[in-house]
Formats: sequence, structure tokens, C-alpha cells
Amino acid sequence: MKGPVAIILAAGQGKRMKSEKPKVLHEVCGQSMIRHVVHAAFGAGVSDVVVIVGQGAEEVKANLEGYANVHFATQHQQLGTGDAVKSARTVLKDYAGPVMILVGDEPCMRSEPLASLLEKQKTTGVECLMGTSIVPDPSGYGRILRDTTGRFLRIIEQKDCTPDQAAIKEVNPSCYVFMAQRLFESLEEVRPANAQGEYYLTDVPEILQRKGHEVQAIVALEADDILGINTRQHLAEAHAIMSRRILDRLMDEGVTIYDPRTTYVDSRARIGADTVIYPFSVVDGEVTVGKNCRIGPFALLRHGTVLEDKVEVGAFVDIVRSELGEGTLVRHLSYLGDTEIGKRVTIGAGAITANFDGRHKQKTTIGDQVTIGAGSVLVAPTSIGDRSKVGAGAVVTSARPVPEDSTVVGVPAQPISKARDRQSGPVDPEQPPR
Ligand code: UD1
Ligand code: CA
Repeated sequence: MKGPVAIILAAGQGKRMKSEKPKVLHEVCGQSMIRHVVHAAFGAGVSDVVVIVGQGAEEVKANLEGYANVHFATQHQQLGTGDAVKSARTVLKDYAGPVMILVGDEPCMRSEPLASLLEKQKTTGVECLMGTSIVPDPSGYGRILRDTTGRFLRIIEQKDCTPDQAAIKEVNPSCYVFMAQRLFESLEEVRPANAQGEYYLTDVPEILQRKGHEVQAIVALEADDILGINTRQHLAEAHAIMSRRILDRLMDEGVTIYDPRTTYVDSRARIGADTVIYPFSVVDGEVTVGKNCRIGPFALLRHGTVLEDKVEVGAFVDIVRSELGEGTLVRHLSYLGDTEIGKRVTIGAGAITANFDGRHKQKTTIGDQVTIGAGSVLVAPTSIGDRSKVGAGAVVTSARPVPEDSTVVGVPAQPISKARDRQSGPVDPEQPPR
């Protein structure tokens, strides 16, 4: 391993979540907490990540499948954070550089302050650099004790605090950089002599200092970065923080968002400049939206949706696993699932694709410049050729896909002649041909 390396602690169950799944697999803005922390670590410049797994180990590993340079170490019994870090020793036996330690239940951790900590450790060469944070409400966190000159003394866990210590607002976010060798040496000296009877990682800085090594604690993180998730209420807070960050980034990139309070965009979504999002719209999952699009109000774009430039998706439209070509309009009350749509297509109000045949999801393909009438149903698998028109209320079946340049009406939809189409003007579903 080239280094620096990150160890992320994720072996606990998280009892207060009242959940069957491991705590770090709960999602914030579309991705598991552990993934967010892994991304923050790589974003800060680490070469490798070691995730400590225990409770629900297989599920956690599966959630991180396919990531290069993510390794796993198992902590068989949850004896405390110090013991958890010790489990990484075998994976890191040939590594001697800096190790950043993070916890898997702080999903809002950003990579920028972590990168600064790594940089600072590199330039100062200290054996232990801790990032701390000053928060309005320190409850739940370990507190940072300093002497009168401000020099770091030790970390004291809330459960071991005197009332005076409990009032300290500088806290330990569990974000440390150690040099590997000293870290593992010192962990051997940690004893479970505390209120919880656990092996505390928080004892290590004090042990190092006592042995004459240099330890520094600097205020480096904001309250939002270090929000630890123990309950569903915390999860909702993390959602609010991350959601706001995502929307701010999109606005920085040129997207108009009229009402950030009622707009939700997944952390994996990409949205082009000059797209406008109206209130009460949700972009959920891996979704790509081009430039100059118009979304909402009340639109739902789900996983696997791709909108090319200048697409309009209006009120009460639900789209999943579908691609819409440039200039296509879906303005009201439609459901499009597993549908590929060409350029400059108009989907009338209330038109839907019936993509589920009871057993499988089926595909619908719609060509360029097609007009789909209001209230029509396209029963997949089916296709509509370029420049064709489907009458209002028509039901296009799998048995009769619509060829190019044709007009179909009725239930089930059938072609009508060009001449009649021209004469009759708008198609009347009550009067299908023949
Ligand atoms: C820890 C810190 C505390 C800090 C707080 C928030 C210690 C002793 N205390 O307390 O100073 O303010 O985090 O960052 O470190 N874990 C394991 N194996 C274990 C125990 C924990 O993998 O045996 C993992 C958990 O899954 C979790 C993380 O370590 O992801 C933190 O554990 P948690 O029990 O939440 O520690 P805190 O009590 O919050
Ligand atoms: Ca915690």
C-alpha cells in the first residue's frame, strides 16, 4: 500500500436504530453511510481503505463490492474502538506510513478537512494529529481536555466525565491521523478501565504523549461534518445537511432550484446547467439530466433515468429506467418505465407505459417526433416508429407495434389512413376505424 491509509470503524450494530440491518448501511441521500465515509476518505487522498466489519459483516462487504483498494478486517467481538482498530493490524502488517482513522457512522464527513489534516500531519511529522470540533451541544461525544496553556491532555468519554468536563464544548469527532507503528504499539497498552469496560481508542493519544511522542489536537471540523448517527432522528438530520449540500453544489454548477426546502436530489444524480427545478420535485437514484431542462413541480425522476438537453417533465410525472431524447415533453400526469424515447416527442397528459406484465419489466421504444395522445396506454413490450401519432385514449398492444409515419387510434390501437387522419383532425377514440 502506498499510503496514506484510512481505517473506518464499522463493526457495531447500532442498537438504537431498531433495525435489522447494520447501522452503517442506512442510507443518506441515496447511498449507505459507509459509502459516504469511504468516498470522503478517498477524496482526501488516501490510497487504501480498511473497513472494520463485525455485526452484519457480509452485508457491509456486499455494499462495498466493486470498490478498488477497499480491504476488510473482521472484529469478532465488539470490545471497543481500540480493539476495532487492532483488528486492522494483519491487513496493514507491511505498512508503516500515516493511518487516518474514521468512523462509519458519521456520513456527513467531508473530504476537504480530512485532506488538510493529512497534509498537516505530513508537514509536521507528528505521531498523532487529531481533528476536533467545537459544537453547541457536545452530548454523546468524548470531550477534549487541555491544560491552561491549551496543550492537549487527553480525551474523556462522556460516561467518564465530571460535570465540569461534561460542559466542555470541544469534542472528539473520531478523526485521527497516526503513524502506523506507534499506533499498533500503543493499542497493546490500552486497558478497559472505564465506565463501559471497553478498549477505548481515545486512550491512545494520551499513551503516546506519555511516552514522549508528539500529539496535536486542532479544531478542524464543523458540527455538520461530525454528526454521528445513533437514531432515526439523527438520520433525518444527516439527510437535511447532505441534501442542502447537494442542492448548493448544483446551484454553484448553474442549476436553478426554486425551493430547496421541497426539492430532493440524490447524491449520485448529475444535472446540467440552466436546468430549472420547480418545487416538490424528487430526483432519486442514479439519474442524469441534461442542460436547459425543466423539472416539476411535483416530478419524480427515479433510478436509471436519463434526460437529454431541453427535456420538460411536468407535474405528477413519474419516470424510471428511461431515456428521453432532446426536446421531448412530458408535461403532466404520466408514468414512463423502461422506456426509450427519441427527440422532440410529445407525451400527452396522462399517457402511461404499462411496463410490468405480471412477471417481468418490459421495454417500450418510441422514435423521434412522435405524438402520444392524452390518456393512452402503451403496453410493453412495444414500439412506436418515428413521426407516428397515437390517438387520445388508445391502447397500443404488444401484438401491434406502431410503424413509422402512421397514426393509430382505438382499443386496441389500429392504423387509420393518412387521408382520414388529415380530414378528421384530432383523433376520436370513440370512433375507431372499421
Ligand atoms: C466514539 C468515541 C468518542 C467520539 C464518538 C464520536 C471512543 C471510545 N469514543 O464514541 O470519543 O466522540 O465516537 O465520533 O472511541 N465500533 C466498532 N467496534 C467496536 C466499537 C465501535 O467497530 O467494538 C465502531 C462502531 O460501529 C461505530 C464507531 O466504531 O461506527 C464508533 O463507535 P460508537 O460506539 O458509536 O462510539 P461512540 O460511543 O460514539
Ligand atoms: Ca457514535
